[in-house]
Amino acid sequence: MSSSSIKVSEIPAGQGVTAEIQGRPVAVYNSGEELVVLENVCTHMGCETGWNTFEQTWDCPCHGSRYHANGAVLRGPAQAPLPRLEHRIENGEIVLD
Ligand code: FES
Repeated sequence: MSSSSIKVSEIPAGQGVTAEIQGRPVAVYNSGEELVVLENVCTHMGCETGWNTFEQTWDCPCHGSRYHANGAVLRGPAQAPLPRLEHRIENGEIVLD
């Protein structure tokens, strides 16, 4: 699922969602303690990943890279993590800095 804004209340603890915020693709994971906001651009060749509910990972459909919910690489060919994006919460929505 992809949307143009994300309300923090719509992300259950332990789940991730993808969206476009201020024109940028983002992948957001709610750990239950913190919100992890990542740039959703695979560091291999730039595809957008999707949230894998079962495995709790970000999976790239293009060449099979997989990332931990926090963005760390679990499986290549990607070598670098999904970058974290600075953000703040305004009126319950994520806003990029
Ligand atoms: S672009 Fe994601 S694995 Fe190649």
